[in-house]
Amino acid sequence: MKIKDLEFELLIAEHEINQKVRTLAEGINSDYADKTPVFLPILNGSFMFSADLLKVISIPCRISFVKISSYSGTSSTGQIKTLIGLEESLFNQDIIIVEDIVDTGLTLQRLVEELRGLGTKSVEVISLLRKKTAREKEISVKYVGFEIENEFVVGYGLDYDGLGRNLIDIYKTDLQEVDKPDSQV
Ligand code: IMP
Repeated sequence: MKIKDLEFELLIAEHEINQKVRTLAEGINSDYADKTPVFLPILNGSFMFSADLLKVISIPCRISFVKISSYSGTSSTGQIKTLIGLEESLFNQDIIIVEDIVDTGLTLQRLVEELRGLGTKSVEVISLLRKKTAREKEISVKYVGFEIENEFVVGYGLDYDGLGRNLIDIYKTDLQEVDKPDSQV
Protein backbone atom coordinates (compact mmCIF):
# COMPACT_ATOMS: atom_id res chain seq x y z
CA MET A 1 0.00 0.00 0.00
CA LYS A 2 1.37 3.38 -0.93
CA ILE A 3 0.91 6.68 0.92
CA LYS A 4 2.51 9.57 -0.88
CA ASP A 5 6.11 8.52 -1.56
CA LEU A 6 6.26 5.59 0.89
CA GLU A 7 5.39 1.91 0.58
CA PHE A 8 3.69 0.36 3.64
CA GLU A 9 2.97 -3.26 4.54
CA LEU A 10 0.55 -4.79 7.04
CA LEU A 11 1.92 -5.02 10.60
CA ILE A 12 -1.07 -5.57 12.91
CA ALA A 13 -4.46 -6.69 11.60
CA GLU A 14 -7.81 -5.42 12.83
CA HIS A 15 -8.71 -8.64 14.70
CA GLU A 16 -5.41 -8.58 16.63
CA ILE A 17 -6.01 -4.96 17.60
CA ASN A 18 -9.56 -5.75 18.75
CA GLN A 19 -8.38 -8.65 20.87
CA LYS A 20 -5.62 -6.56 22.47
CA VAL A 21 -7.96 -3.65 23.17
CA ARG A 22 -10.30 -6.01 25.02
CA THR A 23 -7.46 -7.42 27.12
CA LEU A 24 -6.20 -3.94 27.99
CA ALA A 25 -9.69 -2.79 28.98
CA GLU A 26 -10.18 -5.82 31.21
CA GLY A 27 -6.97 -4.96 33.03
CA ILE A 28 -8.13 -1.41 33.67
CA ASN A 29 -11.62 -2.57 34.71
CA SER A 30 -10.05 -4.75 37.36
CA ASP A 31 -7.27 -2.36 38.50
CA TYR A 32 -9.69 0.57 38.84
CA ALA A 33 -12.68 -1.42 40.09
CA ASP A 34 -13.25 0.86 43.09
CA LYS A 35 -12.27 4.12 41.37
CA THR A 36 -13.74 6.59 38.90
CA PRO A 37 -10.79 7.46 36.66
CA VAL A 38 -10.58 10.29 34.14
CA PHE A 39 -9.39 9.13 30.73
CA LEU A 40 -7.39 11.70 28.78
CA PRO A 41 -7.08 10.56 25.15
CA ILE A 42 -4.45 12.58 23.30
CA LEU A 43 -5.79 13.78 19.96
CA ASN A 44 -5.46 13.27 17.07
CA GLY A 45 -3.58 9.98 17.13
CA SER A 46 -5.57 8.14 19.80
CA PHE A 47 -9.08 8.88 18.55
CA MET A 48 -9.76 5.38 17.22
CA PHE A 49 -7.97 3.49 19.98
CA SER A 50 -9.67 5.45 22.75
CA ALA A 51 -13.12 5.02 21.18
CA ASP A 52 -12.69 1.24 20.95
CA LEU A 53 -11.10 0.99 24.39
CA LEU A 54 -13.78 2.98 26.16
CA LYS A 55 -16.54 0.82 24.67
CA VAL A 56 -15.11 -2.05 26.73
CA ILE A 57 -14.50 -0.05 29.91
CA SER A 58 -17.29 -0.98 32.31
CA ILE A 59 -16.32 0.97 35.44
CA PRO A 60 -17.65 4.50 36.01
CA CYS A 61 -15.32 7.01 34.36
CA ARG A 62 -14.99 10.44 32.79
CA ILE A 63 -13.45 11.14 29.40
CA SER A 64 -11.81 14.37 28.36
CA PHE A 65 -10.14 14.67 24.96
CA VAL A 66 -7.04 16.83 24.94
CA LYS A 67 -4.38 17.93 22.51
CA ILE A 68 -0.72 18.69 22.83
CA SER A 69 0.12 21.92 21.14
CA SER A 70 3.67 22.63 20.04
CA TYR A 71 4.81 26.15 19.59
CA SER A 72 8.16 27.83 19.41
CA GLY A 73 9.22 29.08 22.76
CA THR A 74 11.59 31.89 23.51
CA SER A 75 14.10 29.52 25.07
CA SER A 76 16.97 28.13 23.08
CA THR A 77 15.50 24.64 23.24
CA GLY A 78 12.93 25.76 20.68
CA GLN A 79 9.73 23.79 21.00
CA ILE A 80 7.51 23.93 24.05
CA LYS A 81 4.62 21.50 24.31
CA THR A 82 1.60 22.07 26.45
CA LEU A 83 -1.78 20.54 27.09
CA ILE A 84 -4.83 22.21 25.57
CA GLY A 85 -8.54 21.48 25.68
CA LEU A 86 -8.85 20.55 29.33
CA GLU A 87 -12.24 21.67 30.57
CA GLU A 88 -12.53 20.14 34.01
CA SER A 89 -10.49 20.14 37.17
CA LEU A 90 -8.26 17.11 37.57
CA PHE A 91 -7.51 17.85 41.20
CA ASN A 92 -7.46 14.66 43.28
CA GLN A 93 -8.45 12.55 40.26
CA ASP A 94 -7.03 9.24 39.00
CA ILE A 95 -5.84 10.02 35.48
CA ILE A 96 -5.29 7.56 32.64
CA ILE A 97 -3.55 9.11 29.63
CA VAL A 98 -4.50 7.33 26.39
CA GLU A 99 -1.76 7.46 23.75
CA ASP A 100 -1.41 5.93 20.31
CA ILE A 101 2.34 5.34 20.41
CA VAL A 102 5.32 6.03 22.62
CA ASP A 103 8.46 6.73 20.64
CA THR A 104 11.00 8.87 22.48
CA GLY A 105 8.67 9.36 25.45
CA LEU A 106 9.25 13.11 25.37
CA THR A 107 5.61 13.96 24.76
CA LEU A 108 4.57 11.87 27.73
CA GLN A 109 7.24 13.16 30.02
CA ARG A 110 6.04 16.72 29.62
CA LEU A 111 2.44 15.73 29.97
CA VAL A 112 2.88 13.67 33.12
CA GLU A 113 4.84 16.50 34.75
CA GLU A 114 2.11 18.98 33.83
CA LEU A 115 -0.64 16.73 35.19
CA ARG A 116 1.19 16.06 38.45
CA GLY A 117 1.40 19.84 38.85
CA LEU A 118 -2.40 20.01 38.78
CA GLY A 119 -2.68 18.07 42.04
CA THR A 120 -3.90 14.81 40.51
CA LYS A 121 -4.17 11.74 42.74
CA SER A 122 -2.47 9.37 40.27
CA VAL A 123 -1.31 9.47 36.66
CA GLU A 124 -0.93 6.29 34.56
CA VAL A 125 -0.49 5.77 30.84
CA ILE A 126 -1.99 3.36 28.34
CA SER A 127 -0.44 3.24 24.89
CA LEU A 128 -1.48 0.96 22.06
CA LEU A 129 2.06 0.82 20.70
CA ARG A 130 5.53 1.28 22.08
CA LYS A 131 8.70 1.29 20.05
CA LYS A 132 11.28 -1.12 21.46
CA THR A 133 13.92 1.51 21.12
CA ALA A 134 11.79 4.00 23.03
CA ARG A 135 14.10 6.05 25.14
CA GLU A 136 11.57 6.50 27.84
CA LYS A 137 12.34 9.36 30.14
CA GLU A 138 11.63 7.70 33.45
CA ILE A 139 8.02 7.41 32.34
CA SER A 140 6.46 4.06 32.99
CA VAL A 141 3.71 3.09 30.61
CA LYS A 142 1.53 0.82 32.72
CA TYR A 143 -0.54 -0.62 29.88
CA VAL A 144 1.13 -1.37 26.52
CA GLY A 145 -0.66 -3.07 23.62
CA PHE A 146 2.15 -4.00 21.26
CA GLU A 147 5.92 -3.55 21.41
CA ILE A 148 7.12 -2.80 17.88
CA GLU A 149 10.51 -2.37 16.25
CA ASN A 150 11.85 1.04 15.45
CA GLU A 151 9.71 1.38 12.36
CA PHE A 152 7.34 4.08 11.21
CA VAL A 153 3.68 3.05 11.39
CA VAL A 154 0.36 4.38 10.12
CA GLY A 155 -3.29 3.45 10.49
CA TYR A 156 -5.79 3.10 13.33
CA GLY A 157 -5.35 6.78 14.17
CA LEU A 158 -1.67 7.14 13.31
CA ASP A 159 -0.69 9.28 10.36
CA TYR A 160 1.99 9.91 7.81
CA ASP A 161 1.93 13.58 6.94
CA GLY A 162 -1.73 13.73 7.97
CA LEU A 163 -2.73 10.69 5.91
CA GLY A 164 -3.68 7.14 6.90
CA ARG A 165 -5.46 7.77 10.20
CA ASN A 166 -8.66 6.18 8.88
CA LEU A 167 -7.07 2.80 8.07
CA ILE A 168 -8.52 -0.02 10.14
CA ASP A 169 -5.25 -2.01 10.42
CA ILE A 170 -1.73 -0.84 11.29
CA TYR A 171 0.92 -0.69 8.56
CA LYS A 172 4.67 -0.22 8.72
CA THR A 173 7.41 1.12 6.52
CA ASP A 174 11.04 0.17 6.93
CA LEU A 175 12.49 3.54 7.56
CA GLN A 176 15.56 4.11 9.60
CA GLU A 177 15.11 6.60 12.39
CA VAL A 178 17.30 9.16 10.67
CA ASP A 179 14.83 9.30 7.81
CA LYS A 180 11.76 9.37 10.02
CA PRO A 181 9.15 11.63 8.51
CA ASP A 182 7.42 14.20 10.62
CA SER A 183 4.06 13.06 11.82
CA GLN A 184 1.44 15.32 13.20
CA VAL A 185 0.38 14.82 16.78
P1 IMP B 1 7.39 10.78 21.31
O1 IMP B 1 7.28 12.09 22.03
O2 IMP B 1 8.67 10.64 20.54
O3 IMP B 1 7.14 9.58 22.21
O4 IMP B 1 6.30 10.80 20.15
C1 IMP B 1 4.97 10.53 20.37
C2 IMP B 1 4.08 11.03 19.25
O5 IMP B 1 4.76 11.05 17.98
C3 IMP B 1 2.93 10.05 19.09
O6 IMP B 1 1.85 10.39 19.91
C4 IMP B 1 2.63 10.15 17.62
O7 IMP B 1 1.69 11.19 17.38
C5 IMP B 1 3.95 10.50 16.95
N1 IMP B 1 4.62 9.29 16.41
C6 IMP B 1 5.71 8.67 16.91
N2 IMP B 1 6.04 7.59 16.17
C7 IMP B 1 5.12 7.54 15.16
C8 IMP B 1 4.91 6.60 14.07
O8 IMP B 1 5.64 5.61 13.85
N3 IMP B 1 3.84 6.88 13.25
C9 IMP B 1 3.02 7.95 13.44
N4 IMP B 1 3.18 8.81 14.46
C10 IMP B 1 4.22 8.61 15.31
